Amino acid sequence: MNEELAKIHGELISARRPEDIFGQLSSGNVESQLERIKEIYIRLTRTIFPDHYRGNTEEFDMASKALEILNVFREKAVRRVNGEASDAEFIIKKSQREYHIDLAPIAEGDLSIIFGGYYSDSGNNKDVIVKIIKDPSDADLMRNEAKIIRILQTEPGNQSKHLPILLDQFRTTDRKIGLILDYFDGYDLYSVREKYKDGIDQKDMVWMLNRSLSLLGRVHINGTVHGNVDPSHFMVRPRDHNMRMIDWSYGIVNSSMTGDGFKVFNKDFSPPEVKERKMPIPASDLYSVGKCMIYVLGGDIKTNIMPNSVDKELQRFIQFFVRESPIQRAQDAWEMRSQLIKLIERLWGPRKFREFRM
Ligand SMILES: Nc1ncnc2c1ncn2[C@@H]1O[C@H](COP(=O)(O)OP(=O)(O)O)[C@@H](O)[C@H]1O
Ligand SMILES: [Mg+2]
Repeated sequence: MNEELAKIHGELISARRPEDIFGQLSSGNVESQLERIKEIYIRLTRTIFPDHYRGNTEEFDMASKALEILNVFREKAVRRVNGEASDAEFIIKKSQREYHIDLAPIAEGDLSIIFGGYYSDSGNNKDVIVKIIKDPSDADLMRNEAKIIRILQTEPGNQSKHLPILLDQFRTTDRKIGLILDYFDGYDLYSVREKYKDGIDQKDMVWMLNRSLSLLGRVHINGTVHGNVDPSHFMVRPRDHNMRMIDWSYGIVNSSMTGDGFKVFNKDFSPPEVKERKMPIPASDLYSVGKCMIYVLGGDIKTNIMPNSVDKELQRFIQFFVRESPIQRAQDAWEMRSQLIKLIERLWGPRKFREFRM
């Protein structure tokens, strides 16, 4: 197998935006950007031109696929730079700005279809996602998500980068609600497990856990519970070890005062109190976070058994999150975070940045 071809093919397959291949694109300085797109295109096609691989079916197919993806992204990149619309996108006009959204969805959630797009902010293109609800009877959940994100983002702080930004809300012509949120260029934990079939290294897991605890500490202090933490809602970004918790549709605010309860039972990731219709507490989210960590480590989420490669002390630490009884379980995200940091330093010495690749 031609290694260079395999490498470029891999990069193209995992790219989700034209920027991933052609670098930052904006509507300023059009000429030099078109020049850069052209250079990159020529450089890549030198390797992936299918004709080089006549005689080797596997390589030929790989090259053809790579070229097909590259052509789609090049067209998008050129359009973005020129600020043009196309048949492959729709436009959402709001008072502040105009969003260009690709017609082909990038993901499907439990409640909605997710589309990717961008808007131009004084010459710079900013990426967004649009969630359009599938079943109008779920409209309350989507409205709830908008409400919770607004509450969480009212006081910008250190944790804001771990939370979605709600840019706009709209209705389609058939009266379905949609939300426009900023795009997060990370991967949800299902995608991480797709790449790491046997689970990730414990040292890559700990930064994910650390970030999520720091975020949840802040969210819980404000009286909010996420209510449905699972691998599709836990996103991580390898390059700077950022994480983001998304999909606040099931969020609960000040449950003891409002009587607001759990909105969904997630078979593998919800704590038992959800089924028992008890009051949501911060520990409920910690249970789900613990399950997510067992999952990403390649453990068994039914039995909570983790691979032997995971340090026994770290295993005990995670087991404390997934205790069935809510009162015997980890309660306080910030407290658990400081314990985690102490544990990591005791096990492996001072913390240092460890590269994680997707
Ligand atoms: N802001 C975002 N940036 C990038 N990808 C996202 C973003 N929000 C959602 N996604 C992708 O879409 C999937 C479904 O999103 P989610 O908000 O859970 O939708 P639903 O409410 O329909 O369940 C996520 O698992 C993730 O892969
Ligand atoms: Mg979801």
